[in-house]
Amino acid sequence: AGALHGVVALDGPSGTGKTTVARTLAARLGAGYLDTGAMYRLVTLAVLRAGVDPADATAVAELARRVEIGVGTSPELPRALLAGEDVGEEIRTEPVNRAVSAVSAVPEVRALLVASQRSIIAQVLEGTGGIVVEGRDIGTTVAPDAPLKVFLTASEEVRAARRSAQDTAAGRESSPDEARESVVRRDRLDSTRAASPLRAADDAVVFDTSELKIDQVIVALSELASQRGLLG
Ligand code: DC
Repeated sequence: AGALHGVVALDGPSGTGKTTVARTLAARLGAGYLDTGAMYRLVTLAVLRAGVDPADATAVAELARRVEIGVGTSPELPRALLAGEDVGEEIRTEPVNRAVSAVSAVPEVRALLVASQRSIIAQVLEGTGGIVVEGRDIGTTVAPDAPLKVFLTASEEVRAARRSAQDTAAGRESSPDEARESVVRRDRLDSTRAASPLRAADDAVVFDTSELKIDQVIVALSELASQRGLLG
């Protein structure tokens, strides 16, 4: 397979294997990688650190205009920076999980981050030529012209079990019941918000990853990219 040209949009709820698929695919295809969820998490961490109420949309929007967030686009080592500080671990903790849906439902926050995502994507396309972008609204809003859009799903059980395993692997305490509650709650909020909710684009290829091995998904996506003439 050659290197990826263009954008692969990868959307879906948490626990579908999205991040592993996106990073592995990007690394194999010599492409960049953008984790848009990390950007919403960075703003959320800033909100929590500032003692701002995540439910106060006006205060959240005001803070979002001032915070300095940065994300790397290397699939091997995606970095997440808040005012220059590496907070890659802190943005995955439960307080951020609990507040991120409220923060990402604020239209001003979305407008700011979508603009920044589009500019990062344009920069990477000018450089390496290809990028895998993961999130909730990539195929519908951020990159509606992406030549390959993928939407990953998985059963609630599988998503909760994956989240719990990820938490344990990262040294965070986790029970399957808590993981399930947290995953289900966040996906309900993300899917029902007014501003660009989690939704598969009409032209997205949908994969249910409950029964599929992550590697099978990656192989299938590489084949799709090749069929669509995206590998040069
Ligand atoms: O992918 P993730 O779990 O790190 O995303 C964290 C949250 O950020 C998710 O619950 C909703 C929000 N998000 C979003 O609203 N739009 C995106 N494109 C990506 C994430």
